[in-house]
Amino acid sequence: MTQSSLHSETVQMPLLPIVRDVPALRRKVGEWRAAGERVALVPTMGALHEGHLALVQGAAQHADRVVVSIFVNPSQFGPHEDFEAYPRTEQEDAGKLTAIGTDLLYAPSVDVMYPKGDVTEITVPIVSEGLCGAARPTHFAGVARVVTKLLLQVLPDIAVFGEKDYQQLQVLKRLAKDLFLSLEIQGFPTQRAEDGLALSSRNAYLTAEERQLAPLLHKSLQDLAQSLRGGAAAAPLLDAAKEALCAAGFGKIDYLELRAAEGLAPLERLSEPARLLVAAHLGKARLIDNIAV
Ligand code: PAF
Repeated sequence: MTQSSLHSETVQMPLLPIVRDVPALRRKVGEWRAAGERVALVPTMGALHEGHLALVQGAAQHADRVVVSIFVNPSQFGPHEDFEAYPRTEQEDAGKLTAIGTDLLYAPSVDVMYPKGDVTEITVPIVSEGLCGAARPTHFAGVARVVTKLLLQVLPDIAVFGEKDYQQLQVLKRLAKDLFLSLEIQGFPTQRAEDGLALSSRNAYLTAEERQLAPLLHKSLQDLAQSLRGGAAAAPLLDAAKEALCAAGFGKIDYLELRAAEGLAPLERLSEPARLLVAAHLGKARLIDNIAV
């Protein structure tokens, strides 16, 4: 990543190059590769917040060049989900990426990513099932499909993803392993607001009142983790926590579960490194979160 001069009085970041097609992308990345540089990819759907920017800055610690992709991927949205409403803020996003010194923004159109006749699907069974996969049955196939395309288009040495989408991270690690992809998939810790709410582009759907209530999700996970560390059975604690969230004003709780940290097998109690994962509706938003236990 290009560093600005520490000595100049006004710090001028270089303009962010934006490419929208695969040949232009390959030309640019090819130049870096020919110079022996290590390349990182940060795939996003845009509407960038501090969590994304932390991923970009984290990626820069592991590579000489950082490519950020912005693509609101239709194949990972179900028929009644928020594909149309999903925030699209490319100009602001490009400004934020310029300010932190990103090397390249790749912002393809739907026609570039899914040209006429494109039919190949990719599924990653087992790890895609349950949790978000239960409420969103086609979601992870859509994520696997687009991320495979992005990885093959950019051919990075490392691709980074937030741990907030923990199941997605596990799906993509499995995919990279199974397909012998020659790159590292790296998870980065969830970025949170001061009150604990995990940063997410979908937090924009919350009303002021819902935003006040939202941090209770993270607090519930922390309290549960505390109780589970004593060796108690998980099921009654999880049920009580779900009831408490609904009583406080949350809508449907899609899941609140204790799973193995690697592979996501369900756990009855804390018997190995684990993850507590939750998805809950609050107003128009479906919030997800998870913590290590
Ligand atoms: O996590 C996301 O923003 C998306 O699922 C991803 C990985 C960019 C694929 O569209």
